[in-house]
Amino acid sequence: MTTRRKLIAGNWKMNGLKADGLALASDLAGRLNGAGATAFDLLICPPFPLLFPVADAIAGSALALGGQDCAAKTSGAHTGDVAPAMLTDAGCRYVILGHSERRADHGEGDALIAAKAAAAHAQGLIAIICVGETESQRDAGQANAVVSGQLAGSIPTGATAANTVIAYEPVWAIGTGKTATPEDVRAVHAHIRAELEGKIVDAGAAKILYGGSVKPSNAAELMAVENVDGALVGGASLKADDFWAIATSCR
Ligand code: PGA
Repeated sequence: MTTRRKLIAGNWKMNGLKADGLALASDLAGRLNGAGATAFDLLICPPFPLLFPVADAIAGSALALGGQDCAAKTSGAHTGDVAPAMLTDAGCRYVILGHSERRADHGEGDALIAAKAAAAHAQGLIAIICVGETESQRDAGQANAVVSGQLAGSIPTGATAANTVIAYEPVWAIGTGKTATPEDVRAVHAHIRAELEGKIVDAGAAKILYGGSVKPSNAAELMAVENVDGALVGGASLKADDFWAIATSCR
């Protein structure tokens, strides 16, 4: 069986000013430095203005940094957008793409997400491509079909297990306190694993994260599910104790 190292990713979303972000990042970097060998890689994705100061605060630690989005273009007249090279310049190794909040709030579709992922790859970033069904789609029995469509549309040519991570985040479980059951998660992750064949080079080694109300009380159970290779954590990533408890629940 392929062993995939767990990735625990914190998505801070639009939360935190400089003082909060620096305190949280430094706390986590300190815990990681003191922990010795771990069963997980730890990643934080702060809002854009915090990337440079946070990168300084965690320099020399194994804590990885990522952006929450990037543009599909490399530079130019695109007001408000952030180029992939700006993320690597700030010390990022990862970028979250196609989060359901961006799909919903900004009308991002699969083709744009694929273009962003290709641009991220060209810059050497690891793209965390998010997929997941809404509650009504799940109730209609369409969860797997929706996820298949999103995978087919948003994974770019050239994706490999080294440059692409998939995050399965059922929309109805994000920020709601409702978590998918381990059985729901097992079924969708197995479906995704099969779907990655032919879309990602070395698909068996690609990580598939679960996201949606992951917290210390459910993390161990979810992280033990087959084909769950880590977590994308929103709310609970804003508290060092909770985020650390989730990470250290990985075996
Ligand atoms: P949540 O968010 O952990 O607050 O549910 C997860 C996410 O949207 O990445």
